[in-house]
Amino acid sequence: MKTVFINCSPKKRFCASAYFLFLQRLFVVGEKVCEKLRTPADHARILEQLRDAQAVVFGLPLYVDAVPSHVLRFMEEMERFCRENGLKLSVYCVANNGFIEGKQNEPLMQNFENFCSRAGLTFGGGVGIGGGVMLNVTRILFIVDIGLLVLNTLLSEINTGNLFPRDAWISFAENAALLLYFNLGVLFYLARQGGHIRKGTAGGKKYTRILIPSFIFILFADIFFVIISVIDGGIFRGWLAKKEPSET
Ligand SMILES: Cc1cc2nc3c(=O)[nH]c(=O)nc-3n(C[C@H](O)[C@H](O)[C@H](O)COP(=O)(O)O)c2cc1C
Repeated sequence: MKTVFINCSPKKRFCASAYFLFLQRLFVVGEKVCEKLRTPADHARILEQLRDAQAVVFGLPLYVDAVPSHVLRFMEEMERFCRENGLKLSVYCVANNGFIEGKQNEPLMQNFENFCSRAGLTFGGGVGIGGGVMLNVTRILFIVDIGLLVLNTLLSEINTGNLFPRDAWISFAENAALLLYFNLGVLFYLARQGGHIRKGTAGGKKYTRILIPSFIFILFADIFFVIISVIDGGIFRGWLAKKEPSET
């Protein structure tokens, strides 16, 4: 069985869609093909991959309560392609949004349901994930956590000859458990959807979010966006991206 995973985020690096598609792939067996959809130049290559596939999983962000416009263009072309070639794929999606409630992805799911019915495809279901940006940050925090553990182990070995610093391991385990907890809803529904992809059945639309209380989410989101605004448009994209010379 061949499943094509399409990362539809327009971002080049560090997108939440890549993270959630990575988790989704853990629960799917068989041949797995990963594609990236950013521009019309990607269309033909991805459509060719769909020819002999049984399932396709779209990983995408919610833009203005709907499917991003560059994905809509692709869906229009895919609709024609599937009709002309008599393809009978099952379509799944993993959508994420910036606000906390995953339920905000409902209109996007309806876009996919309508697309499937027009293209003669089967809508297998989707998982809508709220707090996507923050969940994406948890994977960075996990890597930082591992880095700190390695550093503490090295320092402990150098200073005391002890290769197993108990406190550092306890702190690592506590942090890792907390990050895992934030992701539990996502893992549960992606595992469930993975089962449906494997069996080719429909799992319906499910919504989840980062597992923290909304007032804590709002506090952190406010701090995050104030910092982003102060540094004029972004940490990773603003600081590290190549700048085009200004017209003015
Ligand atoms: C143009 C644009 C429109 C957006 N519209 C919404 C929206 O309507 N609701 C929402 O909760 N988040 C919205 N977001 C936030 C994204 O859904 C969120 O940042 C998502 O995690 C990005 O996923 P990605 O990293 O995979 O691209 C929007 C972001 C952009 C850039």
